[in-house]
Amino acid sequence: MANKNVQKGANSRKSVLFRLIRMLFSFYPVLLPITLLCILLNAIISSIPSIFMQNIIAAVEQSWQTGDWAAVSGHILGLVAILAIFYGLSLLAGVAYTQLMAVITQGSLAKLREKMFNSMQDLPIRYFDTHNHGDVMSYYTNDIDTLRQMISQSIPQLIISSVVVLTVLCIMLYYSLWMTLVILLGVFCMFLVVRKIGGNSARYFIRQQQAIGRTEGYVEELMNGQKVVKVFCHEEETKADFDKINDALFADSEKANRYANMLMPVLNNIGNVLYVFVAIMGGVFLLNNAPNVSISGLAFSISIVVPFLNMTKQFTGNISQVSNQLNSVIMGLAGTQRIFNLLDEEPEVDEGYVTLVNAKEKADGSLEECEERTNVWAWKHPHNDGTVTYTRLAGDVRMYDVDFGYTPEKTVLHGVSLYAKPGQKVAFVGSTGAGKTTITNLINRFYDIADGKIRYDGININKIKKADLRRSLGMVLQDTNLFTGTVMENIRYGRLDATDEECMAAAELAGAHDFITRLPQGYDTPLSGNGASLSQGQRQLLSIARAAVADPPVMILDEATSSIDTRTEAIVQRGMDALMTNRTVFVIAHRLSTVQNSNAIMVLDHGRIIERGTHDELIALKGTYYQLYTGALELD
Ligand SMILES: Nc1ncnc2c1ncn2[C@@H]1O[C@H](COP(=O)(O)OP(=O)(O)O)[C@@H](O)[C@H]1O
Ligand SMILES: [Mg+2]
Repeated sequence: MANKNVQKGANSRKSVLFRLIRMLFSFYPVLLPITLLCILLNAIISSIPSIFMQNIIAAVEQSWQTGDWAAVSGHILGLVAILAIFYGLSLLAGVAYTQLMAVITQGSLAKLREKMFNSMQDLPIRYFDTHNHGDVMSYYTNDIDTLRQMISQSIPQLIISSVVVLTVLCIMLYYSLWMTLVILLGVFCMFLVVRKIGGNSARYFIRQQQAIGRTEGYVEELMNGQKVVKVFCHEEETKADFDKINDALFADSEKANRYANMLMPVLNNIGNVLYVFVAIMGGVFLLNNAPNVSISGLAFSISIVVPFLNMTKQFTGNISQVSNQLNSVIMGLAGTQRIFNLLDEEPEVDEGYVTLVNAKEKADGSLEECEERTNVWAWKHPHNDGTVTYTRLAGDVRMYDVDFGYTPEKTVLHGVSLYAKPGQKVAFVGSTGAGKTTITNLINRFYDIADGKIRYDGININKIKKADLRRSLGMVLQDTNLFTGTVMENIRYGRLDATDEECMAAAELAGAHDFITRLPQGYDTPLSGNGASLSQGQRQLLSIARAAVADPPVMILDEATSSIDTRTEAIVQRGMDALMTNRTVFVIAHRLSTVQNSNAIMVLDHGRIIERGTHDELIALKGTYYQLYTGALELD
């Protein structure tokens, strides 16, 4: 079983590596091959000095015997000059590839981050419900960083080392098979060590990577919840919890690094021992006039044994280099795998084809599409036969027998049916967890229904393009979220081409204008940390202004006024009522005074609509709403 997992890990690592390489090539189709060429050149040149050494020693050996130094010195000088030229080239190639690599690495990471962010923006809400935000953040920081290390250092080093090892192996075989076998024996020992120690450190490096994600997730969560921690005096507990996570991270990274640090010294020592061993074996071969087997056909001589010493160093040095880089490759691949997982997440599917367009009314009353903003909107509905029909956007929303659950196991809404005619104000009341927010989540398709139908102006909302559907709905969410920027920018978020005047008008409508003008810099007051410098009610007013500036035909207010005093709420109400003439509004509110003037009030209980009607009808019914209203029953 364990073996199977190892196999699977290796396989998936291989496919991740290939996918990464393909991606890098797609980012830099020209630059990358050039860089690889420079790396190859650099590697090959750095592995050939042994050939020169053999030639020089052979020349020296010869003139030693003949005593004729004059003839040979020119030859040696020539060889040295060629070697110098090669080294010059290698230097150039080295400089070129390191510079190009910097461009490729940082450029690829920037492109990858962009890709990640783009695909994150396309994910359904469900993804964010089910993933730890800090962990996702660590994809952008920690995992990207392991990838940087891998692309900029490990992979080039791996290529260089492999090329050097291969070239040197060829040179060795050219000179002597026996000496090569001696070295390979040593290399086999090194391989065993790498497998044992390296395998262990790789395993812990991957675990370290996951532990870092968990640590970041915890820190992020606690920063968000710092006030709650203080309120409940949980500082000590959170410290203890953090210690646990931190200790786990420590344990993994300590082991990973201990094994990794052990690898180099051990390998170096094996290399040193091998060096001595090769020298001894060379001596033995020489003294016994052993017959040589080689591609070159040269007999054993000093000129062959001495370069082998040099090549032993090169060989073992590069093998240690490779094994040293293996960790960061494995770590980088683990990070890459996490990043690819994010890229591979199923994006929010949108099979919708009905779009929202600006329209003009023709003389005969039918609609015609147009470019400019007319404040008349139409659903553009292409049909199979090639014709296109336009339906005026009115804001008629109907649900028929809708069932829904966030998870398949637990149904949250049961057989919900409702309708809201254009211009109607429909209210949902009911205790916390009854399913009010859930209904609004379905109307704008944050989630898809399990069963039933939802029609918007008579069109199945599954056929409407999500972006267009959401553009037609103004939503003030239960949780307010403001972004870093000025007050004005936050309001303009509702419609990016809104002028300052329009933003201010929306703020006035939402009852936010008063408090904004009292802020130190008015509309230019910078906000940060989700508007931490504002009160909850003020944040809600800004959210309402943001929705108002979008000026949508349907408005959904989810507890939008829950933290606003009754007097300000009355202002908001008046503004909204003015804005919402001929438009549909869904209101969710705890305060029953807010919903009294609604055209229809739905009382929800455990995902079912148990009562519906106007305020007066429901009071006359003397049911749950009546009890809520008279205080016999309390919300929350
Ligand atoms: N993202 C979610 N994932 C799973 N269950 C959820 C999610 N959001 C809400 N629920 C569940 O759905 C039910 C209805 O929640 P909601 O519609 O938010 O209630 P409320 O009426 O207070 O707005 C609750 O039981 C809640 O536990
Ligand atoms: Mg809610």
